[in-house]
Amino acid sequence: MKPQAFKTMASLFILLAAPLLASAESEPAGLTPDSIHIQRCSACHYVDGKAPGAEFPNIAGQYESYLIRALKMFKENKRDSDAMELIASLHKQQELVILANYYAKQPAPGPAVASPDQTLAARGQQIYTSERVYGISCADCHGPDAKGYVRGSPRTRITRSIPRLAGQQPVYLKTVLRKFTSADPQHPGMCGMRKAGKSLNHKDIDALVEYIASKKSE
Ligand code: HEC
Ligand code: HEC
Repeated sequence: MKPQAFKTMASLFILLAAPLLASAESEPAGLTPDSIHIQRCSACHYVDGKAPGAEFPNIAGQYESYLIRALKMFKENKRDSDAMELIASLHKQQELVILANYYAKQPAPGPAVASPDQTLAARGQQIYTSERVYGISCADCHGPDAKGYVRGSPRTRITRSIPRLAGQQPVYLKTVLRKFTSADPQHPGMCGMRKAGKSLNHKDIDALVEYIASKKSE
């Protein structure tokens, strides 16, 4: 976390600490929308995991193993976000797993961009499907329909997933993709992406986002 972020952190802490300190109770595994845990996330992800604005990610219907990994990275300060680093640090790993399970079960929202600029989206599709960086395209990993996938290994019993991108919020996508291209050391876990992102300029990112954000998520 950057030093100038401490002021933001302090106000966030005031916002979040009261309900946390007021509830020392532990909750049952099956969370409901009125659970205190969900209420803590709802300011920025709503109760159903849909983003309240284009700068926040939709987390509804995202793969559980991806959500768990993202939350773990925030908790371990391996993924930069003032809000999420603080929030994840206030929860036990087991609670984060339960939250990921809850949000993964919510229905994924429709495309965040309903009427895309067709020229821009067509350019985005071209980059997404056919431009290769280090011999591999976005579609090779995230799938031709940008819906991602889950892969499990029966030997190691580890499940990892490539996140679904289709229909995701545009400002969030731009922020994340710009972080990937900036060689920001706060994104070490996104290594496949770091390589993929390196050759993308801002115009490419705008085109990719127009394409991805207007695709059907289900
Ligand atoms: C104060 C606002 C805020 C609150 C409260 C909040 N989040 Fe977030 N969350 C964000 C923002 C902003 C991001 C995007 C971070 C980034 O730029 O990488 C995010 C990202 C995430 C991601 C990663 C999504 C992805 O596609 O990679 C997950 C998972 C997540 N939040 C879960 C939660 C959970 C669970 C809670 C409640 C315990 C919570 N958040 C509470 C603002 C918030
Ligand atoms: C080598 C495989 C690979 C390639 C190629 C790749 N990605 Fe990814 N991408 C991933 C993985 C794995 C993650 C999750 C990273 C993590 O969990 O640390 C990810 C994460 C993302 C995210 C963040 C999703 C979220 O919800 O926060 C975006 C956006 C993204 N990729 C877009 C792209 C685009 C656009 C391209 C093409 C320029 C691309 N990716 C190419 C594997 C890949």
